[in-house]
Amino acid sequence: MDVLYYMVIFTIFLFFFFCFSDGTDMITSSQPISDGKTLVSQDGSFELGFFSPGSSKGRYLGIWYKNIPIKTVVWVANRNRPIIGLSGLLMVNNTGDLVLTSENKTVVWSSGSKKVAQNPVAQLLHSGNLVLRDEKEYNSDMVLWQSFDYPTDTLLPGMKLGWDLRTGLDRRLSAWKNQDDPSPGDLHSGLTVNNFPELILWKGSKKYTRSGPWNGLRYSGEPESSSSTLFELNFISNEEEAYFTYNIRNKSVISRFVLNQTNSLGQRLIWNEETRNWIPYFYLPRDMCDNYGHCGAYGTCDDTQLPLCQCLKGFKPNSPQNWNSMDWSLGCMRNKPLDCASGDGFIKFNRLKLPDTTYSWVKK
Ligand SMILES: *[C@@H]1O[C@H](CO)[C@@H](O)[C@H](O)[C@H]1NC(C)=O
Ligand SMILES: *[C@@H]1O[C@H](CO)[C@@H](O)[C@H](O)[C@H]1NC(C)=O
Ligand SMILES: *[C@@H]1O[C@H](CO)[C@@H](O)[C@H](O)[C@H]1NC(C)=O
Repeated sequence: MDVLYYMVIFTIFLFFFFCFSDGTDMITSSQPISDGKTLVSQDGSFELGFFSPGSSKGRYLGIWYKNIPIKTVVWVANRNRPIIGLSGLLMVNNTGDLVLTSENKTVVWSSGSKKVAQNPVAQLLHSGNLVLRDEKEYNSDMVLWQSFDYPTDTLLPGMKLGWDLRTGLDRRLSAWKNQDDPSPGDLHSGLTVNNFPELILWKGSKKYTRSGPWNGLRYSGEPESSSSTLFELNFISNEEEAYFTYNIRNKSVISRFVLNQTNSLGQRLIWNEETRNWIPYFYLPRDMCDNYGHCGAYGTCDDTQLPLCQCLKGFKPNSPQNWNSMDWSLGCMRNKPLDCASGDGFIKFNRLKLPDTTYSWVKK
């Protein structure tokens, strides 16, 4: 009778032990996670663990949505160094760094945190952010390291795209090379810092498209980019920081912004629970006119007109021959030299994206 009693108690204990140890959201120095185990954020929206993308056999440490049926990875740690086999282990080491090791304790990735903590733990938050912090430190400004500062190809709500100018941290996105390989492709995106920061998409080292500077409500060249009943967009630019961020007003809507090498787009997608699919909401570049410098210097682009390119008033094609054969890359030049003394001044143009501001300055 006693034996049965203890067995029942023991079984109940085991049941609870497994229930709770399975649902953990935290790594401590005594509790690493190995391939096959995962962390789940407390609200059940994100999961961190090891995976093999597409037809790849390599193992990567990543974060994905827990509550949608299509495995959608939003962050990868060891993008360039897949682990062969199931030996992967993520742990907090004795110097307080978050470290990913493979066979024979070979380090394949580390957070590189140099900050000292008494009792460092890594926790997967509701937002999908993996933070390394001191166990007793809950202030989000005091984290030792966070995955949101080192994005992969995806901008989640609450992430910052852009700069911490105090530390020189530049948070950029870069697309996966392809569906089987999360290492960076040549499509990447970030914020330029100058008087009018703007969002740029590059292909390799070439500018591919640009948003136009933020005008207080939206990117001036992207009419669809303003806040809406669905999204709240914010653009911060001061001496300490320059970044873009967004939030979703309705917490039950799932949405992400992602760079995609396959179709060369930066896309905002929304999860549709009925069709169980990601639906495009907004994408960049949208048309030919979004291609960087499509009409050359002093040219304007209008995709409702043919030909697409025109010279600004007072300008003519640099090479009429190229221009007429629809090669607009050489752009336009002044009809006659600028002469402010005899009345040349400014004219207003409507509905144009502000020119590239990299080399411009403002007099306030
Ligand atoms: C790990 O160590 C074992 C024993 O020393 C060795 O045979 C094996 O090649 C090592 N594996 C790797 C991936 O270095
Ligand atoms: C929030 O989104 C859900 C799912 O799309 C929808 O059913 C609900 O009506 C929305 N709530 C509000 C206040 O818009
Ligand atoms: C990129 O686009 C392709 C084709 O539209 C799609 O199959 C793939 O899932 C997309 N990748 C991402 C990361 O969204």
